[in-house]
Amino acid sequence: MKILLVILGLALYSTAPAFADADIDKGDVKIGKALHDKSCIACHASKYGGDGSKMYTREDHKVTTKQQLVSRVKSCNKNVGTGWFPEEEAHVEAYLNATYYHLK
Ligand code: HEC
Repeated sequence: MKILLVILGLALYSTAPAFADADIDKGDVKIGKALHDKSCIACHASKYGGDGSKMYTREDHKVTTKQQLVSRVKSCNKNVGTGWFPEEEAHVEAYLNATYYHLK
């Protein structure tokens, strides 16, 4: 019985990926900026100086697709342990995309 429940759970989870990642295009840039400035700048700035934005604009920066942006924000977010909800990650992704990356 337990195994059946696990299988059912996995099936539900895999059919609902939107549940795990909020849509970056629905993120709120203003909220994202506030969250980002509070939790993310200090470490990037300690590496690159200034406001740390060089992390996103340096010539060999890593993020070149929306999917990469989503996973990068997720992993940095995990490291910091902000405990953001997926919607909050989406706000920050929207902010970074609108401000630096301009990915379609
Ligand atoms: C403890 C330090 C630290 C903190 C805090 C941190 N980051 Fe980062 N972040 C890094 C480092 C180091 C890299 C560069 C990794 C690399 O070059 O592969 C990076 C890279 C990135 C990139 C990719 C930049 C690019 O295009 O190359 C994004 C996006 C990013 N961080 C978002 C965030 C967000 C959002 C937060 C706040 C939740 C955050 N980071 C907090 C250390 C940190």
